Formats: sequence, C-alpha cells, structure tokens
Amino acid sequence: MAVEETSIIAALSKAARWIRRNGTITTEVTGNTVIGQVQIAHVKDFAHLKNIIAINKHFLIESANQHVAQGLIKRGGGVSDLTLRSIDRDDGAHMAVIHVHVNCCDAMGANIVNQICEYLKLPIEHLSSEKVTMCILSNLNTDKLTRAQVILRNIDPELGQRLQEASLFANQDPYRAATSNKGVLNGIDPVLIATGNDWRAVEAGIHAFACRSGQYRSVTQWKVQDKDLIGTFEAPVIVGTVGGVTKLHPTAQMCLRILGVLHANDLARIIAAVGLVQNLGAIRALATEGIVQGHMRLHIDNLTLSVGANAEEMPLLKKRLEELLAIRKRITLSNAFEILKELRDQALRAAKKRTAF
Ligand code: MEV
Repeated sequence: MAVEETSIIAALSKAARWIRRNGTITTEVTGNTVIGQVQIAHVKDFAHLKNIIAINKHFLIESANQHVAQGLIKRGGGVSDLTLRSIDRDDGAHMAVIHVHVNCCDAMGANIVNQICEYLKLPIEHLSSEKVTMCILSNLNTDKLTRAQVILRNIDPELGQRLQEASLFANQDPYRAATSNKGVLNGIDPVLIATGNDWRAVEAGIHAFACRSGQYRSVTQWKVQDKDLIGTFEAPVIVGTVGGVTKLHPTAQMCLRILGVLHANDLARIIAAVGLVQNLGAIRALATEGIVQGHMRLHIDNLTLSVGANAEEMPLLKKRLEELLAIRKRITLSNAFEILKELRDQALRAAKKRTAF
C-alpha cells in the first residue's frame, strides 16, 4: 500500500488480524465488460437511430473487433454489445448515447475502449446520418461489479449494535457517507497506487455508484445476523494487471508479485476486501474509543522525528509523550519540543555535575 497516513496501515492490519482470528472474507466479480460512450448530442431521429443500431449491431461489433480489438479477441475478450440510451438534454430535447460494452480481459481498458469508440464514430455516422459529438470510456461501470463480504463470528452484541448503527448512519446521511466512503478509499487507493492503477478512475466510479439510488450512500453495509456481524462492499473496481504503467513500472510489478496476482479480477477482489476491512477498522474505532487516541499514539513517532531527537533521546521522548497522551488525550509538536528541551537541559545538568565532581 502506497500511502502517507500511517494510521491507515495500523487500522487495516488490526482489523485484518481480528477477521483472521474470528471470521472470513469472501469476494467475487460479476460481469466482464466495461462501458464506452458514443454521444450524439442533437439526435435528429431517435427511433431511426434505434432501428439502425439494432439492424447493424452485429456488423458494428464485428467490425470493431476485427479492426481495433483483435488483441482482446485473441485473449477471449472484445466488443460484446451495443446499447442505446436517450437522455434528457434539459432543454426540451433529447440526446442519444450509445454504450459500447467491451470485455478488456486483464486490462483496465481506458485506451482500447476509447480507440474502439472513436473507430465506431464514422460507421455510426455513415449508417445513421447523425452527428457523433463525443467518444469516451465511462468510469461508472455498472456492467462489472466487485463484491466483498466479511463475516465476524460471535460478535460482542454491544459492539455489533454499535457497528450496525455506524453503518445505518453512513447509509442514510450523505454527509456521513462521504466520510465513510473516504475511509473505504483509504484502503483502496493505496493498493491502486502501489499496483500502478488509475485511482482517480476507480474513485470516480465508486462515488458515482454510491449515488445510484438518487442519494449518495455508503458503499459498505454492516448488519448483525444471529450472533455474527456481516459486512458487504459492492462497487465497480475496474483495474488492470496489463497495459498502462502496470506492466512497465518495476515497483508495480513487484507489488503484483507480492500479491500473487496475475488477473485483473483477482486484483479487484483483493482491493474490495481491503476497502471493506479498512472501513471496519475505522468504524470500530469511531464507535468505541474514537480515532484520536490511535492517531495520536502513531503520531508520537512522527513527532519525535520532527523535533530532531537523536537515537538516545528518542525512547525517552516517546515514553514522556505517551505518558502525556494518557493524561491529556492529545499531544502537539510544541509538547515534543518542550519535552526534548527538558531532556537536553537535564542531560546538560548531569554532565556538568559529573565534570564538577
Ligand atoms: C480518516 O482518514 C478516515 C475516517 O474518517 C473514515 C470514517 O470516518 O469512517 C476515520
């Protein structure tokens, strides 16, 4: 995981250890295509366009597969469908949008999908006498979703209730949902970055998917069922293990080797699990001791480094900061400076005493 926030790694590790002892994680990917969009902003005759697409669908798909997506076809993928949508322009008229559904195999697919859509522009214009205005991949991919489920057995009933309440809050209130989903992305983004994937694309897809009911909601749910706590994550996690920089960047390659992952779907499943477990770590802290204590404990290392303590001073400074944190529940950089100054003054006095003696 490539990330600057130490507490992310600590919270995730703690939650993962809890699940390893008391539960299970299962994951799956449903669907296999990503979506490219071909827009006709001012459609002249939608019914005619619909007819043309229906009659020529096979030809358009075959043609794109033969001329642009040969590589995907060889690997068992390629363009598999075209669908047509009518969208309100908000000026009394409608625009037409053709969705091009492409199985990109182990690639994230942005480049190839854009190429396919741009290739289809001319034949679509030629066949329909409409004017294509834009061709681009969609980051809201509802064709292919990744799910993760955590089951924690014999959850303490009070803790279970608190976590269920936290989940309800995130589902019902967009203000809380945004923060909760940020916590999920705290886990997801670092894996995307470490493996050379486009984290902005996945973030955009997850946020858009979180709005699918018309209200922005949490992408995770936690519920107590009998004696167990069950957590679920569902969202598009479109990643690649080939293409882009994934294959070129030595660190990304090493990270994929560490994960033991060859295929994009396996990486997406790991990412979904990490997001869900990260969310569990965050809401457990929030629903119990709060997050400040844990953050502060980790922050002590940063503070000792920031004030320039040397190897001898560090353990003493750390101990004093931990004691202060236990009493005051918070510590600052000035606390670290003050304590370090005290330690140095003490050391100086002791040295003077020794010389005088
Ligand atoms: C902070 O980086 C992430 C959290 O705010 C997530 C959450 O509130 O669920 C702790």
